[in-house]
Amino acid sequence: MRHHTTFRQLEIFEAIARLSSFTRASEELYLTQPTVSMQMKKLSEAVGVPLVEQVGKKVSLTEDGRELAQASRDIFAILDRYTMSVAQRRGLEKGKLKLMAITTASYFAPRLLGEFSKLHPGIDLSLRVTNKEQVLASMADNLDDLYLLGTPPEEIDVVATPIMDNPIVVLAAPGHSLAGQKNISLERLAQEPWVMREAGSGTRKAIERLFQDRGLTLRPRLELGSNEAIKQAILADLGISALSCHALTLHQPGQFAVLEAEGFPILRHWYAVYPAGRQISVVARAFLDFLLGQLGESSCAPGGGGACCGVECGKY
Ligand code: PGA
Repeated sequence: MRHHTTFRQLEIFEAIARLSSFTRASEELYLTQPTVSMQMKKLSEAVGVPLVEQVGKKVSLTEDGRELAQASRDIFAILDRYTMSVAQRRGLEKGKLKLMAITTASYFAPRLLGEFSKLHPGIDLSLRVTNKEQVLASMADNLDDLYLLGTPPEEIDVVATPIMDNPIVVLAAPGHSLAGQKNISLERLAQEPWVMREAGSGTRKAIERLFQDRGLTLRPRLELGSNEAIKQAILADLGISALSCHALTLHQPGQFAVLEAEGFPILRHWYAVYPAGRQISVVARAFLDFLLGQLGESSCAPGGGGACCGVECGKY
């Protein structure tokens, strides 16, 4: 590779490789598409081989491209580590924290980051919210410092620290015929039309396991990839569902009926996770300590009492 290849070009190339799209890379980097295309052309000329193949809008990497993408990630990881070591020398004045959160964790992760940021205003924060598949891919590529998940992955060896309760409650529209009833059986719930999260969702798995253990199968009437869409569907009388009570954070009490059903709330936890063997940065360590310090204060801390999103935690 000739010496005029620039870090900027590698940064653009890494984004294209990760997002499989020139358009999305240009959006992420706040560049125009012609700039991105021109920089990629220059990079390809400098390397002397084609790096990407484009069929329509779909971009895929050539074998040389894949190798360069890995090399770019390694270079940026080394630079990140360098930045971190400078940050370590300066204490926590400066540095980076890259977090990835599974869909439902988006209800509390920004609040925690906001509080952490007040303590360490110089730290540059990034939070990506995504589904399980992407979390596993990111872990395998070692892209983020910490992951906020409802279930530590079995596929990858990880260090998982429980940070908060994650009770799953059954929700119906306020006028639903089951609202206000006591001890609703699982058999009765199974007769209702259900609105379910996508396959792979931790919430969905926990619900299905509860019913399967009783030999019951839920037949989803509707499958939606977002908790917000599920809440809208419940209010539109399309069915009932069960969601983490964190998904109710910004709702007024009474906006949904929380059904008093057998087996619910399903008691789960949120975990902060990183790949075993990864040396976590001083900033990531400080964030983890901050999360653990929050446990005593959070109404949803494991074993803690009090109200969580309008649901009494004390009873579970
Ligand atoms: P999810 O939540 O349903 O958004 O995947 C994670 C989990 O509760 O495991």
